[in-house]
Amino acid sequence: MNDKPYSPTSTPAWSNLQDAASSAADINIAELFTTNPQRAEQYSTTVGELYLDFSKNLLSDSIWTDLLALAEQSQLRSHRAAMFAGDNINSTENRAVLHAALRAEPQDASGNAEQARIAKVKTQLQAVKNTSDKIRRGDWLGSTGKVITDLVNIGIGGSDLGPKLACAALEEFAHPEINVHFISNVDGAEILTLLKKLDPETTLVALASKTFTTQETLLNAQTAIDWFEKTIGLKNAQSSSHFVGLTANPANAIAYGIPENQILEFAEWVGGRYSLWSSIGLSIAISIGFEQFEKMLAGAREMDLHFQNAPLDSNMPVIMALLGIWYSNFLKAESTAVIPYCERLLLLPSYLQQLDMESNGKATTLNGEPVDYDTGAILWGQTGTNGQHAFFQLLHQGTRTVPIDFIAAAKDDLSNDNHHRVLLGNMLAQSSALMTGQTAPEGQQYRYYPGNKPSNTLILNRLSPKNFGALIALYEHKVFVQGSIWNINSFDQWGVELGKKMANELLGDNAETAEFDPSTKALFSHIAKSN
Ligand code: F6P
Repeated sequence: MNDKPYSPTSTPAWSNLQDAASSAADINIAELFTTNPQRAEQYSTTVGELYLDFSKNLLSDSIWTDLLALAEQSQLRSHRAAMFAGDNINSTENRAVLHAALRAEPQDASGNAEQARIAKVKTQLQAVKNTSDKIRRGDWLGSTGKVITDLVNIGIGGSDLGPKLACAALEEFAHPEINVHFISNVDGAEILTLLKKLDPETTLVALASKTFTTQETLLNAQTAIDWFEKTIGLKNAQSSSHFVGLTANPANAIAYGIPENQILEFAEWVGGRYSLWSSIGLSIAISIGFEQFEKMLAGAREMDLHFQNAPLDSNMPVIMALLGIWYSNFLKAESTAVIPYCERLLLLPSYLQQLDMESNGKATTLNGEPVDYDTGAILWGQTGTNGQHAFFQLLHQGTRTVPIDFIAAAKDDLSNDNHHRVLLGNMLAQSSALMTGQTAPEGQQYRYYPGNKPSNTLILNRLSPKNFGALIALYEHKVFVQGSIWNINSFDQWGVELGKKMANELLGDNAETAEFDPSTKALFSHIAKSN
């Protein structure tokens, strides 16, 4: 029996992949299609209305076999089962990780505890439905009796990025008379500029914070409270019909003054960056309606079931995770890009930055040891075709290889045939050009395109709530698979704590005497002198 704790680098598959990487320079993606005419079909998979083509990768059949073996030799299967069963897999915070339960149906439960959990989630979602329906119908009135026309979601990180992305992505379904705004940054210019444009009598503020302790959110909330008093003389606006609280910490929200019946709760086991499916998604339900919100949950559930049940070699999140590991751990890619050919997915890269980099930016294993291999990828991106006229130069002719996820909707009812044909044509041309490259005419080396640049292409039939839900759940599970193989805790975020503590020290009464490095002290006094 082998009682050595798991490490990915001790698996036979890891060694095989290291060997394969040493001769990976010989792989020519375009040639792989010549030797295997079935490659495009073989290296593609479908979940519902999502189609992933992963054939344009630096991936031979034997490397693919080794990557699948890595998944088999890792703890993926047991971790996946533990997550869905509600075990406390977030070990440093001693918490379960159950965002998938937010979109589960009673038939998914295998025991009484799970049934009870799903029933509780349904009750909490019913509150989201009741509140959003009332606002959308025009029955939720401000303190002077006027109908709500503007919702301001104040939150940051997961309490902002998911809802903001979903509202933008699903604009096609948006309520025509209710505007949804998002305030996250503690930069006062953001909220003060927005408030100038709003009518306080018709504005509702949703304070979205899992903990209800976040500095930025509470300061922005105070600014909104002051605005109501200054503009319409409403004192303690947080206790009026102009505020709702979305939180896993109702006690804090009550202490803040939010009326209990205006607090929409969710469970502690929902991580901040996984919370758009919970009451944190109230702004989404207000914007697109609860029925569409439920379709988004249904799409995510479809991906959950696929992730749990599909064989590894056709399991979309597993495939994307393994490719990411191949590029970062073995081919030493420095970053990865996500390029949606859909302007409504402009915020997807920033959303994925939190999901991926806050989850997997870790250097301590689950056994409490320092890792001796790379973990979380550096993720960035922008929409196409805009990116083509900005950074694609580097992707085609630069010295680095950046694996890309291209994402597009096959149909778009908000666009027209002409635009959409050109948009998709550009995306296909880019992934093809990146792979095939081009030789340079004699004496014109600067026109050389090396090619052999890898990419995935993910096609959604259309950007519907259901497909959007499936897309987000796909990336959630991809991040989970990578964290599991890397043997790290993808569900804590201790790395953000030190900066928060030091900001509090800098802003506290003893800032002048606080122990800071000389550069920071000099900057502090330079700013003080400039004021
Ligand atoms: O500081 C990081 C973080 O904890 C994120 O994980 C989270 O999404 C964000 O802050 C906001 O936290 P809260 O929802 O508790 O205000």
